[in-house]
Amino acid sequence: LYNSAEEASVKVADTIAAKINAFNPTESKPFVIGLPTGSSPLKVYARLIELYKQGKVDFSNVVSFNMDEYYQLPPSNPESYHYFMYTNFFNHVNFKPENINILNGLAEDWEKECQRYEAKIKSYGKINFFLGGMGPEGHIAFNESGSKRDSKTRRIKLVDSTIKANSRFFGGDLNKVPKSALTVGISTVLDNSEEVLVVVFGKGKNWALLNTLTRKPTSAVPGTFLKTHPNSIIVADYDAIEGE
Ligand code: GLP
Repeated sequence: LYNSAEEASVKVADTIAAKINAFNPTESKPFVIGLPTGSSPLKVYARLIELYKQGKVDFSNVVSFNMDEYYQLPPSNPESYHYFMYTNFFNHVNFKPENINILNGLAEDWEKECQRYEAKIKSYGKINFFLGGMGPEGHIAFNESGSKRDSKTRRIKLVDSTIKANSRFFGGDLNKVPKSALTVGISTVLDNSEEVLVVVFGKGKNWALLNTLTRKPTSAVPGTFLKTHPNSIIVADYDAIEGE
């Protein structure tokens, strides 16, 4: 628990950089990281870029898997998670282009795309570190309320509260927000990652944070499934724990 999202983000980014630096990657065994979008991880990305520019971290042997992408939103759309990730992170650091993985929301056969993604994650054996965010209803990636513990990468219908929350990025227009998305599942994250760290910042996350912390693992609040992982941690600020 940190005083501010800024302070927490620096700590999280420094931790990630230290883990990458401590790892001894090879071509066949790179450091594999899971990454989120959203406003919460923005400062983590900013700090990682700063560390890269100072020569304190190197991403040339890091493979990334993003959590989710809107269905049928082209990568050229500034609200797509492709666009977000390149603009806010990948364009500023030295990932090899072939090491960046993001679900293709334009895939004609989305089922095949989800299966391909799930299989590719598994092909690495494990994700060394999974950084996540949380939605106001406790969703992880786009695993909305109702998502099962054993869920895998799939297409999901977004719930009204998510569409409303994310409409702020679409000029406040609910109609412009895609109604479904491709997302890794709860199992994809929890059963393939050595370590999971979820950042939860701001007053708007109070309900999600308190319910995640106090309830038994339940599909009603997917964040609660973090409790079923042996090495998961939530990093929050006081705003999130105190609420309005
Ligand atoms: C979206 C994303 C999630 C993210 C959540 C929170 O719904 N699909 O992966 O965690 O937003 O976003 P923010 O950090 O902007 O509140």
